Amino acid sequence: MGIDNDVYNRVGESWWDEDNPLNLLHGSMTPGRFAYFRKVLGERTGRDFAGRNYTGPDFTGLRALDIGSGGGFLAEEFTRIGCRVVGVDPSPVSVDTARRHAAASALEIEYRIGAGERLPVPDATFDVAYCCDVLEHVSDLEAVIAETSRALKPGGLYLFDTVNRTFISKLVAIKILQEWRLTRVFDTPIHEWSMFVRPAELASAMERHGLRLGQIVGLGPRSKNPLRLLDLVRVGGSRLSYGELSRRLDFGQIRSTANSYMGYAVKR
Ligand SMILES: C[S@@+](CC[C@H](N)C(=O)[O-])C[C@H]1O[C@@H](n2cnc3c(N)ncnc32)[C@H](O)[C@@H]1O
Repeated sequence: MGIDNDVYNRVGESWWDEDNPLNLLHGSMTPGRFAYFRKVLGERTGRDFAGRNYTGPDFTGLRALDIGSGGGFLAEEFTRIGCRVVGVDPSPVSVDTARRHAAASALEIEYRIGAGERLPVPDATFDVAYCCDVLEHVSDLEAVIAETSRALKPGGLYLFDTVNRTFISKLVAIKILQEWRLTRVFDTPIHEWSMFVRPAELASAMERHGLRLGQIVGLGPRSKNPLRLLDLVRVGGSRLSYGELSRRLDFGQIRSTANSYMGYAVKR
């Protein structure tokens, strides 16, 4: 059975609805991932205003490319800190949803329909490119990394998160979240284990295309409460929203990279 990327058209009208399984990426995943990305961005650009009582947008004018922008969860975060964001996604329904949500939130974000393998953007244009929970969905990882590098300015920053290909990810992302009836979040194959990307594979692909790995850290639930597993059963029975489940799991930076990981690279 192949991966079902058409799910982003079928349910992509309601990314922002807490009852949509895609909202699992929002509740705590958006703040959890973004906290790490913002920290890296601050350190790498020298615009680290932490602790200086600065409350404005730190990154005004930086051009950012969101590859696989989905409903626009991260595009809106990067826009709020001052970046000028272009979001690219192959799902027209998701792009439409992201456009509407940005307009309703009075945020200026440019969204284009396109795939990471052939980005509809000029060469060496972006200070930052990020690709989150997307690399495990693409048919040609090598082409996506080559295109990302092409779009970045020399010295530009690449931020990413994706799913590792391990025994743990087979258990968590495939068996628990996708196959077992009581715990599954999707009833369609949104992931295929063979498409998950080991950190060393990603690092080699990036190196081949002029992106030098800076760091890789774990990404996962920080909640230590074993009862959260029961929440998976409750959410399947519609007694808990996916947004709330995500918040309870409290995703963010963790030590283990066994299931998911995030990190950054720098364009030479
Ligand atoms: C799990 S969602 C992640 C969305 C968003 N990046 C986030 O983290 O909220 C995966 C997204 O990747 C998009 N996608 C699938 N294949 C792609 C490709 N070849 N290039 C770029 N995006 C792709 C899907 O349409 C979907 O919006």
